[in-house]
Amino acid sequence: MNSIHVIPVSPASERFADADHWCAFGAQWESGDSKEIECLSVVDETHDVKTFTFRCPDYHALAYEPGQFLTVSPVIGGESVSRCYTLSSTPTRPFSFSITVKRVPGGSVSNWLHDNLRAGHSLVASGPAGNFTPVAGPSRKMLYLSAGSGVTPLMAMTRAAADLYAELDIVFVHSARTPKDIIFRAELGRMEGSMAEMRTLFFCEGLGDEPEWNGPIGRLSIEQLQRQIPDFKEREVFTCGPKGYMDATRALLEKAGFDMARYHQESFDISTEGIVEPALIPAVLGQPQDTFTVRLARSGREFTMSAEQTVLSAAKKAGAIVPSSCSQGVCGTCKTAVLEGTVEMNHNGGIRQREIDKGMRLLCCSRPTSDLVIDL
Ligand SMILES: Cc1cc2nc3c(=O)[nH]c(=O)nc-3n(C[C@H](O)[C@H](O)[C@H](O)COP(=O)(O)OP(=O)(O)OC[C@H]3O[C@@H](n4cnc5c(N)ncnc54)[C@H](O)[C@@H]3O)c2cc1C
Ligand code: FES
Repeated sequence: MNSIHVIPVSPASERFADADHWCAFGAQWESGDSKEIECLSVVDETHDVKTFTFRCPDYHALAYEPGQFLTVSPVIGGESVSRCYTLSSTPTRPFSFSITVKRVPGGSVSNWLHDNLRAGHSLVASGPAGNFTPVAGPSRKMLYLSAGSGVTPLMAMTRAAADLYAELDIVFVHSARTPKDIIFRAELGRMEGSMAEMRTLFFCEGLGDEPEWNGPIGRLSIEQLQRQIPDFKEREVFTCGPKGYMDATRALLEKAGFDMARYHQESFDISTEGIVEPALIPAVLGQPQDTFTVRLARSGREFTMSAEQTVLSAAKKAGAIVPSSCSQGVCGTCKTAVLEGTVEMNHNGGIRQREIDKGMRLLCCSRPTSDLVIDL
């Protein structure tokens, strides 16, 4: 069982011969709605990266800021599994939109999308959401730093700037394992040629099967930064990539004396590295002061958790099925009503104030400050 339904599609020539199809343009997909989106095409970007392009039902436009993401929820093995994917397309062309997905070895959703999703299939998606957009740091001079699939939000921002003739001064630095792993290499090259003040810099860790590669080998260093982008301190920096890459980039900029108030980053990393997650303490052992009892209202299940754990991880360890994706308080997938008790929530934009006012909380970034009853 999976969530893909094949929509009987009449040929485009027939559809667009019907005036209703043209009249439908203009309506918008309400942000936050969950909808079935139709896959229009699947394109290989590299050997392990594909771009999936979609449209909304009824030809509605999708309004988003470049850098925002959708949460897609295919049903895999009978279970709906949610993951966030940045819209790599430009919001200036809102009637079709794309996500660009890298296969993660052993990963459930990325592999499922690569192996199963085809043009004509549909998929449940919600969003768009996210704060990693130029609105967070508007500037004429940008420095985009990405590695691997972290290229997607920066590609969306660059495509939007190109489409709007925004005349931004963009230095687009991308790091890849080998030249053949550079995502969007040809298009970035074309944009560099057509945008007056855009420059690309690709760093590869090795040559792979392209021995004629004559770009820089290795990682971005302070010396490279100072030599290649001497005005880097005048730029707004947006960084996206694996955790190790972002930690190294942040450290490098700090060391180089960059004003970190102008630094923005988004992590695609779903690991809970760094979060202290002590083992669950069985309720029968008594209850020290820093532990709380949580009751799941629907199943009646009860467990005790430490004040340092997130409610999401404790509930999962206790066997509850809680939809989740980013684990960072950005996507909203784990939004759940807290019926009794209080939590401390440190979210990153995945919930609105009116939802908080109604008692909803993001369990992935909430820690208990009292005993709880939650709507699970
Ligand atoms: C805001 C945001 C935007 C994102 N945008 C993009 C994007 O544009 N493009 C993109 O490609 N990705 C993006 N991601 C990452 C994406 O959401 C997924 O995390 C990624 O595709 C991996 O999902 P998966 O289901 O394939 O892997 P998962 O099943 O979640 O597995 C992740 C990792 O855990 C390992 N793992 C899984 N199960 C086990 C197990 N039982 N034991 C040990 N290890 C295990 C896997 O091997 C893998 O290394 C984004 C993430 C966020 C938060
Ligand atoms: S899992 Fe994304 S907000 Fe909680």
